[in-house]
Amino acid sequence: MENINLEKVDLLIEKYRGDTTAYISLLQDINKEFRYLPEQVLRHVAQKLDVPLSRLFSMATFYKSFNLTPRGEHEIHVCMGTACHVRGAHRILDRFSEFLQISPGETDPGGKYTLETVNCLGACALGPLATIDGKYYGRLTLKKAEALLEGYHEKADQQI
Ligand code: FES
Repeated sequence: MENINLEKVDLLIEKYRGDTTAYISLLQDINKEFRYLPEQVLRHVAQKLDVPLSRLFSMATFYKSFNLTPRGEHEIHVCMGTACHVRGAHRILDRFSEFLQISPGETDPGGKYTLETVNCLGACALGPLATIDGKYYGRLTLKKAEALLEGYHEKADQQI
């Protein structure tokens, strides 16, 4: 079992103590703290707040912003929408996948990167397009994607 600091969770529970409508906010804070909602934490919250675990799980699965599996420190989203698709998004995705050695939807074992696909990032003229931690990188070529990942990999702990 993962070594989770439940004291942090208790502090978050205290923050919303007495507000029975604040479950979503509490889960958002927990998701932000751990980058996902660990089952161990959900069980702890359920017990502390005397709320059914099934209720917390149904909230966690209903809202897309919650994650039930660990996320990487850096999130990469590759657009697979039509405009990006016709400009070679699949090849870009394959290059990201090869470089990180993970498939879309996965997080690398070191917990550094999560690779995802999206249907449209809203900037179709810039396709093929990807974001890393919300920053847009447009008109990607295989070379640009590779250079971006190499640069990012070297400076993974810094802002690029
Ligand atoms: S299809 Fe890729 S940004 Fe719209």
